[in-house]
Amino acid sequence: MIVLGIETSCDETGIALYSGDRGLIAHRLHSQVATHATYGGVVPELASRDHVRRVLPLAQDCLAEEGLDAGDIGGIAYARGPGLAGALLVGASVAEGLGWALDCPVLGVHHMEAHLLAPMLEPDPPAFPFLALLVSGGHTLLVEVADIGRYRVLGESLDDAAGEAFDKTAKLLGLPYPGGPQLEALAREGEPGPFRFPRPMTDRPGLDFSFSGLKTAVVNAVREADEDAPTRAAIARAFQDAVVDTFAIKVRRALEQTGVRHLVVAGGVGANQALRGRLRQVAEDQGAVMACPRLAFCTDNGAMIAYAGYRRLWAGERDPGPVDIRPRWPM
Ligand code: KG4
Ligand code: ZN
Repeated sequence: MIVLGIETSCDETGIALYSGDRGLIAHRLHSQVATHATYGGVVPELASRDHVRRVLPLAQDCLAEEGLDAGDIGGIAYARGPGLAGALLVGASVAEGLGWALDCPVLGVHHMEAHLLAPMLEPDPPAFPFLALLVSGGHTLLVEVADIGRYRVLGESLDDAAGEAFDKTAKLLGLPYPGGPQLEALAREGEPGPFRFPRPMTDRPGLDFSFSGLKTAVVNAVREADEDAPTRAAIARAFQDAVVDTFAIKVRRALEQTGVRHLVVAGGVGANQALRGRLRQVAEDQGAVMACPRLAFCTDNGAMIAYAGYRRLWAGERDPGPVDIRPRWPM
């Protein structure tokens, strides 16, 4: 079975083909960064309109690359949510329309489940059960994964998501959207030491997170500090160190509590090298193995939707009825 995956939950149009026999066979991504950059963040209506323009040409590119045509598609998966309602509707409508035209099954998948399963596309996939740290622009979750579809949320952010904290801090430091990668680059230049920010909620038991206080600490530091480049870099460094330390403490705690020996780090913030390096060390110290998606599959992409959809369609799951999106959808 070849599954077409369609990701349109936010500001990337991601399309991919996953084959049961051959694995991931084609994938395409169109990033809307240039569209939204002048506004300093994602403009939902512009995102929806751009998805409308991109989905079918990207799908045609994927098919053409493999010498396939639409009739070879055996199932269609789309990101049902969580995400921007209008953007999700584009992917859902195209998927349902194509499914009807091609007479093949269609399934909406959970965007965060797809992030969580993205490392399964790599040469050394994690073994079940594993602990997953999901860190994206909208979510921060620690999940114990017994198997596909068997998830237990152990902890989550009570306010801002990790990616949101990166983006807001980047904005405070005058960096352009999207802030996460820019802040990581600036932090690389920064001296450790001049600033120190709190490691929120690490001094009490539990596995939840909170990043809004950290953001306030950065606001105060920026207000009081000099505006020169080394100072901005040192603030970026101190912010990133605080986030990385916080995740290291909670992940160690979760590995100890669950006794699980495989760790997955996924979602956009999972592309952060400082975070990856530190968590790999934490995993090794606990006798665990860390698995991550390749960098391009940490952030939003169609491949993870095609894979999650393939696994569920193969198991016989189908969308029950007409177009159905879930802009808010707990795991
Ligand atoms: O998973 P994702 O592409 O979209 C959501 O599902 O939200 O995550 C996007 C988030 C943004 O907040 C972005 O700034 C952050 O991931 N991000 C990073 C890095 N690359 C992307 N944050 C820190 N360091 C990075 N290298
Ligand atoms: Zn995402």
